[in-house]
Amino acid sequence: MTELSKSIGNTQSILSVCGLGKTYRLPGLWRRTRLTALSGVTFEILKGTTYGLVGESGGGKSTVGKIICGLTKADAGQVMYKGRDLLKFSKRDRKQISGQIQLVFQDCLGAFDPRQSALAALSETLYLRGQKSKKAREEQAKAMLREVGLGLEQEGLRPFELSGGQRQRLNIARALLNKPEILICDEPVSALDVSIQAQILNLLRKIQRERRLTMLFISHDLPVARLMSDTIGVMQNGRLIEEVSAEDLPDGAKHLYTKELLRASQ
Ligand SMILES: Nc1ncnc2c1ncn2[C@@H]1O[C@H](COP(=O)(O)OP(=O)(O)OP(=O)(O)O)[C@@H](O)[C@H]1O
Ligand SMILES: [Mg+2]
Repeated sequence: MTELSKSIGNTQSILSVCGLGKTYRLPGLWRRTRLTALSGVTFEILKGTTYGLVGESGGGKSTVGKIICGLTKADAGQVMYKGRDLLKFSKRDRKQISGQIQLVFQDCLGAFDPRQSALAALSETLYLRGQKSKKAREEQAKAMLREVGLGLEQEGLRPFELSGGQRQRLNIARALLNKPEILICDEPVSALDVSIQAQILNLLRKIQRERRLTMLFISHDLPVARLMSDTIGVMQNGRLIEEVSAEDLPDGAKHLYTKELLRASQ
């Protein structure tokens, strides 16, 4: 375990995951068998920093993100947020803090109402947050669209009429309207062209810096995660096998698997 993991409880820590375990029941004839997706996953994220979670496909990265967001239940462990264990929250408590931890994922098309324009989608989010004035909602929604780089020309377009990059900008805008403290980005650029990837990564970095957001950045791409993160956690077979400061890479990598990931990305 690294110094970071040992210092759980650090006053700067905003989110700490401790001993997280998760098994899934296999389908059909195999339903008596359980697949271990996570085992003893422990790490902490310091306020205002980005923690990159990397590793092979099926290694458990998204499961960690989903558990933190409350989309999946854990079998064991704790997720401490501001001193309280999120895994013990009732549905009502969870709803109350849901805006504070927002998820941005890869394929966001299905997360939007196909009949709503970009502006209407953001306006609805503000309505659900309690903003009853239509005029104020439109003003705030437009300001947010501009912040993420969407202009007048895109305001009236529906999600499927936007390009992949524009749609991801809209997705980020919607997450930001909830004024999150923590943004969980699960492969946010994996579905995009390399040139567009760079634009979205730059946008996320700008937003993180300006809003002092805390971020969990999930990616199978170690160089991308390294670019975005302060600390990198490497997952393999449901375990966190290494934690290393991003600036210490590549030399700081100790585990053979991390070295292989670095080699594969060269
Ligand atoms: N709802 C589910 N039911 C059954 N098994 C699941 C479920 N969700 C995930 N799993 C399994 O749990 C393991 C971890 O999945 P997870 O999606 O967390 O991996 P990942 O690291 O995000 O992979 P990728 O890089 O491909 O996104 C995989 O073996 C996956 O098949
Ligand atoms: Mg995943």
